[in-house]
Amino acid sequence: MKIKNVLFAFLLLCASSIFAQQKEVFVVPQPVSITEHEGTFILTNKTLLVAGKTEKHEAEMLNFYLKKLYGFTLPIQAKAGKENALILKVSGKGRKDGYTLQSTEKQITITGGGNEGLFYGTQTLLQLLPAEKISSSYPVPAVSIQDYPRFNYRGMHLDVARHFFDVDFIKKYIDYLAYHKFNNFHWHLTEDQGWRIEIKKYPLLTSVGGYRNGTIIGNYPGTGNTNQRYGGFYTQEQVKDIVKYAMDRHINVIPEIEMPGHASAAIAAYPQLSCFPDEDTYISPKTPWAGSRKGKQVQQTFGVFDDIFAPTDYTFNFLENVLDEVLALFPSKYIHIGGDEAPKSNWKRSEFAQKLIKEKGLKDEHGLQSYFIQRIEKYLNSKGRKIIGWDEILEGGLAPNATVMSWQGEKGGIEAAEQNHDVMMTPNTYCYFDHSQTKNEDSVVIGGYLPLDKVYGYDPMPSKLDAAHAKHILGAQGNVWTEYMQYPSKVEYMIFPRMTALSEVVWTPKEKKSWDRFSSHITDIFNRYQFWGSSYSTAYFDLKQSVSPTKDQTGVLYNLESNFKEAVIHYKKNTDTDWQVYKEPVLISSSGSIQAYLETAGGNSSIISKDFFFNKATGKKISLKDESSKSYPGAGAFTLINGVITTNGLKDASEWLGFGGKDIEALIDLGKETPIKKVTLNTLDANGSWIYLPKTIEVFSSADGSNFNLLGSKNIDQKKDADTRKFTFPVDVTTRYVKVKAANLGKIPDNLPGGGNSAWLFADEIVIE
Ligand code: ACM
Repeated sequence: MKIKNVLFAFLLLCASSIFAQQKEVFVVPQPVSITEHEGTFILTNKTLLVAGKTEKHEAEMLNFYLKKLYGFTLPIQAKAGKENALILKVSGKGRKDGYTLQSTEKQITITGGGNEGLFYGTQTLLQLLPAEKISSSYPVPAVSIQDYPRFNYRGMHLDVARHFFDVDFIKKYIDYLAYHKFNNFHWHLTEDQGWRIEIKKYPLLTSVGGYRNGTIIGNYPGTGNTNQRYGGFYTQEQVKDIVKYAMDRHINVIPEIEMPGHASAAIAAYPQLSCFPDEDTYISPKTPWAGSRKGKQVQQTFGVFDDIFAPTDYTFNFLENVLDEVLALFPSKYIHIGGDEAPKSNWKRSEFAQKLIKEKGLKDEHGLQSYFIQRIEKYLNSKGRKIIGWDEILEGGLAPNATVMSWQGEKGGIEAAEQNHDVMMTPNTYCYFDHSQTKNEDSVVIGGYLPLDKVYGYDPMPSKLDAAHAKHILGAQGNVWTEYMQYPSKVEYMIFPRMTALSEVVWTPKEKKSWDRFSSHITDIFNRYQFWGSSYSTAYFDLKQSVSPTKDQTGVLYNLESNFKEAVIHYKKNTDTDWQVYKEPVLISSSGSIQAYLETAGGNSSIISKDFFFNKATGKKISLKDESSKSYPGAGAFTLINGVITTNGLKDASEWLGFGGKDIEALIDLGKETPIKKVTLNTLDANGSWIYLPKTIEVFSSADGSNFNLLGSKNIDQKKDADTRKFTFPVDVTTRYVKVKAANLGKIPDNLPGGGNSAWLFADEIVIE
């Protein structure tokens, strides 16, 4: 996450000159309609802010942001004069969350259908002001704006458990939501790595559950441990303060109290919550650990853990008591109860759980999960609240009134909507802001690749739903899991500018969304972040490298591009003495490395590089019986023979093909009879991400592509072969075709991460020597 300062200074310079030249008014999220007129209103600290009793709160909020961003406030009065007035009105007509904004040389009028709409109108006004503190007169262009949101649910989530963020940052985060017209803050408060909300009846939840003795260093499973006690929590007074701060900005705060899984911190505080209170917390031999390994421990590493809540009366009584205190703090209609990633192995081993399954006539442990969630739902419904759960609450049957947050793609959301349940879309393929937004990431992130344009292009409304079911899609949300976000600046770097793109996804009418318009204003967006004093990612201007096939299978093509059109791209192969200017794709036909950088008037970007391992399969024709998952598509089958072997695991997501629950069957045409000695398949085991080694691998030869001879096969032992990612088959044959089959592990055993779900099978390269 190096911010390339020199490049940046230049970009911003460009931005201001662009800003000076072109007049298009830019508001994000893009309003329903915006018409520009001649003229400019000049806002000064003498401009009267006209607001009656109904509008007073929104006037005060506007003054809050004027003070925060520009250092002045406007005098508020109840009646308008003729000129130099900023008039706020609530009409009480039409949508409560809609507004109009009319600015002329003489005055500005913002009219909200309700206070909510008026607040959004004032946020739009703030964006009409320059993104810099200037003397005392701020020009506001003359415009007519009409606006209202596309979706009722516009959410941003923050995990404060993997890493803790103080009240000041939470308020800053809520400001970011307000600036983008989001209306729900999903506050993920409890986890395996920490319990973050004071519960007076159970003080150990925070005094014990709020702290861990250390944290792994680097990506899971970790290269070491910080050996530093880490934690924190919010007192109930702080929670009240934050909830009020959000409500003042028309943002609802949805607390998440996780159950029955992700409960290690609660169990560390109150071991009776576990099915096995006397068992020590299981610590994998791969986990670098700090401090005691005895008894129940708050987790220091990430992933999914078996020690979940026991379905006992003690637990239900505990959860009801916790929820009673939570309800008193959060007026939200929705309470999020988690429900995701709850391994069933402890319930399988537990006599009590098994007896309960029999007694209640439940089918199995998934039925027990459903029973668990339904029992909590009944309690919360009796208090006038509704539950939201992650899409795993579909397992074993949905609770009657539950709302589903669809994170494992959109499938769960579609299924729930078809069952007439409300849905918020948060698919990991479009809405997980913990994934990288650059292929050149140099900080530790969880993996996956979610670039800005992909977020922008997301439509939360699945096309396959008919109108009767489509109405259940309430909106979408960006999720911010903080395993690898230790500081506020890292959170900002990960959310910006993707959160800004998501604001158009949830606010702007579908037909008004325009990637061209949005991306052409990227420097305006960056300027605004700078003005807020926020970090952000500049990945949009990355120099991007890709590899593509040649027409005649003579090698592979190395391609370079950047959205920074004024920049010159330079490259150098390791066999070259001089840098060359990039004009067209470079033919690669032997092993070696290639480097590239962007040259701008403001300086050079850092150098990126790619290594090629050329072999007999590289760049040859390849086909797959079944394509990989849309989530890990690479560049299609070609990715398996592109001569690039990643050493970066999932960080190079685009170098991998991922097969969810499916086998790999790849057929390579070497073009002519070719003597070969070795066939190697590169795969991945990242069990925390449910990625497992294949069950078996088989290699075949063929002269005609239809009759095959088995050359070698191997049964793989997930334990013994763990960490082996390269499986090599010595062969001695002359052949034109080579087929490689790798069988997916299938259903993940219950004692392993993702137990009960389909395994992922990943492959990067097939090497033939
Ligand atoms: C989730 O990402 N486990 C909801």
